[in-house]
Amino acid sequence: MNMLVNKDAFSNGQIDSKLWLCEELEQLGWASDLTYIYAGWYGVTAFLLLSRGKFHVYKIRSLDIDPTCQPVADTINENWVFKEWKFKAFTQDCNNFEGQYGDLVINTSTEHFDSMDWFTRLPKGTRVILQGNNMPHDDHVIHSNTLEDFVNTYPLSSIAYKGEKEFVYPDWKFTRYMLIGTI
Ligand SMILES: C[S@@+](CC[C@H](N)C(=O)[O-])C[C@H]1O[C@@H](n2cnc3c(N)ncnc32)[C@H](O)[C@@H]1O
Repeated sequence: MNMLVNKDAFSNGQIDSKLWLCEELEQLGWASDLTYIYAGWYGVTAFLLLSRGKFHVYKIRSLDIDPTCQPVADTINENWVFKEWKFKAFTQDCNNFEGQYGDLVINTSTEHFDSMDWFTRLPKGTRVILQGNNMPHDDHVIHSNTLEDFVNTYPLSSIAYKGEKEFVYPDWKFTRYMLIGTI
């Protein structure tokens, strides 16, 4: 099967942001029966979490609206697709998701969502890990100027972690925000 991938998924800004997520999540000592990764793209967050093996998760489901993502995500995570679908990717608009909700939802693509439905539909008590950024980009719908802006966009009943990470390159820079907590 020929698969074209967007190499930005493996760039420093993407990978270090996901490693930051892994590190902060692992420090919380949380476990999960069913984790959903919304807008999971090529499943790189799942690959890192499962490879590091420090976050105790029974099953990960990765959802992305773009049908080209599912075969790539399943290929990258084949080691866990093979293990009775410990990981599995699906094509799904997260704004319309109506399946069994997980106990943890990870969304590192919040800036790409054209509606808040995906968030407002999550049952109370769901734990979330959200990332956003202040990058000006044609594909970005939600723009957060500060960590406070970002935190205020996603009201939670409790916050376990919030922070920001700056990425500085010779000709540009941006800040990624992260919020971990419970709805
Ligand atoms: C460029 S990628 C991810 C960038 C991001 N910073 C990350 O951490 O992976 C954004 C993804 O969001 C997906 N997406 C956008 N709207 C969506 C929706 N309503 N449901 C599911 N996936 C969505 C796109 O298909 C795309 O794969």
